[in-house]
Amino acid sequence: MLYRLAYVSSAVRPLSPDAGRELLLVSRRNNLRDEITGFLCYRNGMFFQLLEGRRSDVEKCFGRIYLDARHGAPPPS
Ligand SMILES: Cc1cc2nc3c(=O)[nH]c(=O)nc-3n(C[C@H](O)[C@H](O)[C@H](O)COP(=O)(O)O)c2cc1C
Repeated sequence: MLYRLAYVSSAVRPLSPDAGRELLLVSRRNNLRDEITGFLCYRNGMFFQLLEGRRSDVEKCFGRIYLDARHGAPPPS
């Protein structure tokens, strides 16, 4: 069964075009390998990502993303 996970986070510092390209390169490579699809949106210093795939793979992927120092919890609204 397809498992979906979506989250919003806040970039620690503005993402440069080069840093964005690098992030996408690594993400696409890993997600292709793990058969994960979805999208990643970056706007006004915020990320919104949807991940879809096998639950174990999505959770493993999100485990890496969660620990990534380039972003953190969004500010309270
Ligand atoms: C906002 C954000 C979204 C990310 N999305 C993904 C993703 O979809 N897939 C992925 O493998 N890594 C993603 N990453 C990168 C991971 O945090 C991590 O750096 C990467 O998975 C490490 O891959 P490696 O072990 O192949 O070097 C994302 C990072 C950030 C900050």
